[in-house]
Amino acid sequence: MTTENHKLWGGRFEAGLEKWVEEFGASISFDQKMAEFDLKGSIAHVTMLGETGIITQEEARQIKAGLDELLDEYKAGQLEFDISNEDIHMNLESLLTEKIGSVAGKLHTARSRNDQVATDMHLYLKTKLTEVIEKLHHLRQVLVNLADEHTYTIMPGYTHLQHAQPISFGHHLMAYYNMFTRDSERFEFNQMHTNLSPLGAAALAGTTFSIDRQRTAQLMDFSQPYSNSLDAVSDRDFILEFLSNASILMMHMSRICEEIINWCSNEYRFVTLSDTFSTGSSIMPQKKNPDMAELIRGKTGRVYGNLTGLLTVMKSLPLAYNKDLQEDKEGMFDTAETITVAIDILAGMLDSMTVNDSHMAESTEKDFSNATELADYLAVKGLPFRQAHEIVGKLVLECTKAGYYLQDVPLERYREISELIEEDIYKTLESKTAVERRNSLGGTGFDQVKWQVEEARKNL
Ligand code: ARG
Repeated sequence: MTTENHKLWGGRFEAGLEKWVEEFGASISFDQKMAEFDLKGSIAHVTMLGETGIITQEEARQIKAGLDELLDEYKAGQLEFDISNEDIHMNLESLLTEKIGSVAGKLHTARSRNDQVATDMHLYLKTKLTEVIEKLHHLRQVLVNLADEHTYTIMPGYTHLQHAQPISFGHHLMAYYNMFTRDSERFEFNQMHTNLSPLGAAALAGTTFSIDRQRTAQLMDFSQPYSNSLDAVSDRDFILEFLSNASILMMHMSRICEEIINWCSNEYRFVTLSDTFSTGSSIMPQKKNPDMAELIRGKTGRVYGNLTGLLTVMKSLPLAYNKDLQEDKEGMFDTAETITVAIDILAGMLDSMTVNDSHMAESTEKDFSNATELADYLAVKGLPFRQAHEIVGKLVLECTKAGYYLQDVPLERYREISELIEEDIYKTLESKTAVERRNSLGGTGFDQVKWQVEEARKNL
């Protein structure tokens, strides 16, 4: 069953699409998220058409007034879109026609949906990038504050998830601060490639009308127009960069969330999440679950998926526009929405959690994470480090069998092991001393952590 064709592009068609085929091709269900940007792009375009005399000033004024009204109505939630108008571009054009009559038909002069949709995507992402960078700024601030507060809080540092050497909790947090700073810088770089205007590339080859692309770029607050029309309508690198930056960000968030999940388990009890960021169990009354941290970890999967999805869509696409490109949107929207809320959740969770600092520090007292201190102690006194390592290793084995730790070994036993060992060994073996003395640049020593915090504050 076919119907008559009333599409904006219907001129060369005798029959219309069947409803279910039309639905398959339509993007209005999701691209309506770009309505505001589509209208702003159209306002810039029509302003330029009027200024260059491609249409009259009066026509431009009427069209612009109509677009302004549509923008207000959109913001007030009053616009209704229709699937038979396929996408946001044709929906808005047909709403404009209803409003101002046939003069609306002049808006699409010297433009195509191909440069129009690319413009919308750039405008959308420009806004989102600013938002993401701001939210990351807040998260980094939260981390620095927490690191400042916990510069002197001692925790076990791990390798292979085994106690390795005691560290400052502030140092641990500052590692994440650095990751999120690099994430932010990657999004800033991403802004450069998003800040280009495709408008005026038209369908693929530019236009015979004497348009002013610099002017529309300026009106939309882009740094400059794309210099190649084919590239302008088919480039989605700016979205791929976004998705890949978002994937790296999610990987970082997933890592800290995994740590938080561990830290609030009964085995660690390093932190207690606030009630506002935890949930209970429908069957086990005692449960307090770190659901939000788990969800961030889980949502990392969908963000990676969106990156893989678009990379696959783009692979082998010939120039210039192909309808495959309509598949670029949902993953971008989903990623932007996922990361913006995930950053806020993580910041809120960190900001409101209780750090059980004494418990954290205690857990470095009942382990062998001071073994390196003993080996270094001997090495400083002239014993080759390899030999020191061997001696300490044997002593650790002896302690393990006897059920005590290096700090419990009596001085007589130490003197038997090596004449180099003196009374000051006990102070050396304390976690606090171990942390304090790791004062090499970028180490966990308290002074180094304080320096990191100060530097971060200067940058924020
Ligand atoms: N909805 C389309 C998209 O998202 C807009 C561009 C359509 N252009 C075309 N020649 N069919 O890509």
